[in-house]
Amino acid sequence: MENNQVLKLTIQDNAVAIIELQRPEARNALNLELRQALSTTFQELSKNENVRAIVLTGGEKVFAAGADIKDFTTATTSEMYLRHTEQYWQSIVDCPKPIIAAVNGYALGGGCELAMHADIIIAGSNAKFGQPEVKLGLMPGAGGTQRLLRAIGKFQTMLMVLTGKMIEAAEAKQMGLVSEVVESEQTIAHALEIAANIAALSPIAVQQIKEVTNLGQDMSLQSALTLERKAFQLLFDTQDQKEGVNAFFEKRPANYQGK
Ligand code: CAA
Repeated sequence: MENNQVLKLTIQDNAVAIIELQRPEARNALNLELRQALSTTFQELSKNENVRAIVLTGGEKVFAAGADIKDFTTATTSEMYLRHTEQYWQSIVDCPKPIIAAVNGYALGGGCELAMHADIIIAGSNAKFGQPEVKLGLMPGAGGTQRLLRAIGKFQTMLMVLTGKMIEAAEAKQMGLVSEVVESEQTIAHALEIAANIAALSPIAVQQIKEVTNLGQDMSLQSALTLERKAFQLLFDTQDQKEGVNAFFEKRPANYQGK
């Protein structure tokens, strides 16, 4: 398991994994080492049967201040191309398990993009979101324009990406960029509570819901509804589905085995 100087991984007994970015000296800026560590960790957690939900956090003070700008000072186009950083992000996209971002402090540039790779975003009241790349003569390069567009619509997105302006947690909630805002001291605890609730549910149902919801965003409504119906039908072949329904009628908590 990945546990190094830039990232800390904890796997709890309740099948919740916590990934904590640990580059406080650079406000958790995503340098190559951290991106690689994130990628490897998500690949491992995707396969780990003892993990059913993942909390991703930068800790109490800052989520992530974006790509490491030091990597950009002399970089050329071909060097940037050959880094193929999309492969690191892809490990997060491919993770079938629910990811809950617990965001305190700054989530800027690649940090905001990282948060948007999650399925649920819990923001502390001190959280600040932004895509400030334009202020560096750059633009978002890891989904900032496209994921924001899908989350909050064209006009809010344009305001953020064209000005680089930061959005406070409450405004981000109003826009639909975060799921919930809580007191900053409660951000991680609340994300862990949600993760624990999800981890106690059927992992097959949970993963189908995540997959269909994410894929459906970019499909026609008719195709997406068909995909949803097929996934719904598929679940009737699982032991977990019978367990869930039986537990309901027997008035007891369900014990989901992921089968
Ligand atoms: N990359 C590298 N180092 C960074 C960094 C970054 N993104 N953000 C902060 N740091 C470093 C600073 O250089 C500073 O280092 P030193 O102590 O060696 O001087 C240290 O972290 C602390 O930073 P500040 O003193 O600036 O801390 P602050 O609390 O006053 O401000 C901040 C925090 C608002 C996040 C500010 O640091 C900031 O604006 N950072 C840059 C944010 C940014 O532009 N992000 C976009 C990057 S481009 C990108 O992400 C592209 C993409 O789409 C993938």
